[in-house]
Amino acid sequence: MYAKVLYDNEAKRGLLSGWGFSCLLGSKILFDTGEASASLMENMDRMMVSISDLEGVVISHDHWDHTGGLWEILKRKKGLKVYACPSFSETFKKCVKESGGKLVFVDRPMEIADNILVTGEIRGEYKGEIIPEQALVVKGDKGVSVITGCAHPGIVNMLGYIRDKLKVKKLYMVFGGFHLDTMDRETIDRIISDFKAMSVEKTGPTHCSGGKARRMFSSRYHGNFVAVKAGHIIHL
Ligand SMILES: [Fe+2]
Ligand SMILES: [Fe+2]
Repeated sequence: MYAKVLYDNEAKRGLLSGWGFSCLLGSKILFDTGEASASLMENMDRMMVSISDLEGVVISHDHWDHTGGLWEILKRKKGLKVYACPSFSETFKKCVKESGGKLVFVDRPMEIADNILVTGEIRGEYKGEIIPEQALVVKGDKGVSVITGCAHPGIVNMLGYIRDKLKVKKLYMVFGGFHLDTMDRETIDRIISDFKAMSVEKTGPTHCSGGKARRMFSSRYHGNFVAVKAGHIIHL
């Protein structure tokens, strides 16, 4: 299974960057849609991704930098399934319906395509408010991998949830937004130790993970740290 990173705060040469995250798994499942639809469309073109091949879009959480491109995608492919948490805002749900999307609520781990699972709603907190979020789990050629949007429930909590619910002992790769940009070095160091204790082989903190966390992950994971950015194709 291959993951194509279509949108990120950083991009490889020839692709556009922007705040947010989006990643395609195989050719049918899209995870998050970045902030700016025009940049997402452009990157999709440049990476030869066809919206007509999509069968579903998973939205990690109801934040603008993950839902921005969704409306243009729904305009181009009516009836597309949108996997959402039951507690997403009423505004989001209404917009999906009005845009012709088919809402599928996920409250527990659900296999949505061959070897691609959504965790379902995990509760997190952001700026004092409860925010539900879900992650994607891929059972790939190299093992089980996890992709996160912002990880507002806490990246370690989310991995713990996945390990418990799906009975996985080790993870091949964890990448996406880890939301560590406001954390101090001590906390980040503890989180990296937790990754090691949970037998995470490769890491790719990106989007809202912050430069400090990326450097710290890189220095402790060495060759198993992946500097994920838009344009990457990752074999999972
Ligand atoms: Fe984000
Ligand atoms: Fe967020």
